[in-house]
Amino acid sequence: MSLPPGFLDELRTRVTLSQIVGRKVTWDMRKSNMAKGDWWAPCPFHQEKSASFHVDDRKGFYYCFGCHAKGDVLTFVKEAENLPFMEAVESLAREAGMTMPARDPKAAERADHRTQLAQVMEEAVKWFRLQLKTSAAAEARAYIAKRSLSEAAQDRWEIGFAPDQRQALFQSLQQKGHSADLIVESGLCAKADDGSIYDRFRGRIIFPIRDGRGRAISLGGRAMDPNARAKYLNGPETPLFDKGRNLFNQAPAREAAGKGLPLIVAEGYMDVIALSEAGFRATVAPLGTAVTEDQLRLLWRIADEPIIALDGDAAGIRAALRVVDLALPLLEAGKGLRFAVLPAGLDPDDLIKQQGAPAMQKVLDDAQPMVRLLWQRETEGRDFDSPERKAALDKSLRAALARIADPFIRDHYAAEIKDLRADLFGRNRRSQGPAQGFQPRGPFVPRGRFGAPFQPIAPLSSTKQSLLATAPDTAQDSLREAVILAGCINHPHLIPRFESALERLEFHGPGHDVLRNLILYHQTAPDLLATLMAEAPLPTEAALLHPHVRITQALSPKADPVQAEGCLAEALARLQADRAHRLEILDAEDDLGGVADEGLTWRLSKAAEARHTAARGPQDTKGDSVLAPNGVELDRDELDRARKLHDSIDFTRGGRKH
Ligand code: UTP
Ligand code: MN
Repeated sequence: MSLPPGFLDELRTRVTLSQIVGRKVTWDMRKSNMAKGDWWAPCPFHQEKSASFHVDDRKGFYYCFGCHAKGDVLTFVKEAENLPFMEAVESLAREAGMTMPARDPKAAERADHRTQLAQVMEEAVKWFRLQLKTSAAAEARAYIAKRSLSEAAQDRWEIGFAPDQRQALFQSLQQKGHSADLIVESGLCAKADDGSIYDRFRGRIIFPIRDGRGRAISLGGRAMDPNARAKYLNGPETPLFDKGRNLFNQAPAREAAGKGLPLIVAEGYMDVIALSEAGFRATVAPLGTAVTEDQLRLLWRIADEPIIALDGDAAGIRAALRVVDLALPLLEAGKGLRFAVLPAGLDPDDLIKQQGAPAMQKVLDDAQPMVRLLWQRETEGRDFDSPERKAALDKSLRAALARIADPFIRDHYAAEIKDLRADLFGRNRRSQGPAQGFQPRGPFVPRGRFGAPFQPIAPLSSTKQSLLATAPDTAQDSLREAVILAGCINHPHLIPRFESALERLEFHGPGHDVLRNLILYHQTAPDLLATLMAEAPLPTEAALLHPHVRITQALSPKADPVQAEGCLAEALARLQADRAHRLEILDAEDDLGGVADEGLTWRLSKAAEARHTAARGPQDTKGDSVLAPNGVELDRDELDRARKLHDSIDFTRGGRKH
């Protein structure tokens, strides 16, 4: 259906975003400012206790500082109700009293149709549950007991039984008034060549599959007969069941992840159930297919760093590497994956049964970050004893890195790989035996509570660190630091998002380190600025009055939070890229003094590229003014005052000079 021009705009102005959102959230009235149309609530798209979800009625936009969900009223209805776009438009139009132009009967039919399919599925779930109580299900009950599923667990997972009969379910559903076509379309039954209809699931234990909203959308069936043709049978794709866009146990896992449990991706139904019952309640599984791109996105909406639990055999590792390939182009700041490798021959269900939850916890604790898997794939079992082989490795690593779309992430990967590479080749060693895979190397990098959006480029040696501190760019660094600090002071709600970067970055500017620590410490204070002014007035004032801060609109307290966030992210990235660049040069000097290293030019060019990208900045933000103020008219007096203030401060003692 095509909408007349202006229809959507009219619709957007007729409805108030906060009213629509208000049905799904509980506003934080202390944080919200009703008069200004400025609303805050815990986010409806991810589980959280704090209120990071922001609605701006005047702009008609929402943004979540936690999961980055954003959009307008249509996006909201679409996402929150899981509706196709046109259905979201229809639902809002109804509400706003606007008649849909030439109402598309097909779309309406589709919506009704999906509802009908969901009803059939829900009835089937009930029916399978009932069957499990019948005498015909004695063997099934024994099987379930053997797999240590308590009655309570069976209820929680709505486990059912499909008797070994050709039409038991079909007849029951027909008696309830559902048409044969609808039943077949739901995937519960199938049509044989002779046109007769038969139950798809027979002689199987049934696991209902629900979508993110809790609607029953399909089933998985486990054969009890070890010789059955397929151990697991899953419902087919239907208008209701898109295997690539759903995950088993999605809604409960999302809720548990919101309470802080790690999000685990297991392979199968029984693994999800065993893990959840053992307390790892934020566990999901794909639905009989390999993990898809959509599923990865879904996972990242639930948690920053899902842990993929894999069998410790060759097939498990292959599956993991497929996920790595899928994930590389999708990586963005703060989003990553970890891989937990099970002992050979065991799946999570086996491990928990044999060795208990602590053994599983240990496996999760040892999970490897994705970069390690990438490294392993390129190096495991191979010998790099010649320049040609080393060059070939560099080439394949470069190709892998090139697939990472986000330039900053790419750079961090390059840095980590550089480290691994240095470990492998050694500075003085000529060659090693074949590389080893999956050698736990202790903690990877320090990790902040909010994922690791801006990891320090590489562990610094102390000589390099001291060189850095006196590097010629200190003034530039100091300026960037002031921008970052002022951004935090003016937009405290952004602090959690950048907390780990703030924690780990070294601040060299005068008083900046002290101020950073105070900001992190007091970040939840009701009035951060007042608190800082009370504790460290001079560094606080100096940061806020810094000329570059003053000319950066995006940092002012009144600035759009989304822009402020972009500006902060950019300043942090630039600071890090610059420091990384300097490090690379130092490294290069080291290398040139010793044995030439064929990766040298590559590393230099990577660093230069990152620096270049960062200096250029995203084209569509106003952030350029942060660091490249050109043609901006400054109020001279103000500038002078700020300069004097800045110069007059003896930050080392936290007071004014003289
Ligand atoms: P597994 O063969 O590892 O089974 O398949 P499992 O989960 O350990 O099951 P139990 O413990 O033997 O009961 C893992 C997942 O792969 C899909 C299912 O989703 C299963 O949970 N699968 C497996 C199928 O879809 N069809 C099959 O025939 C086998
Ligand atoms: Mn198993």
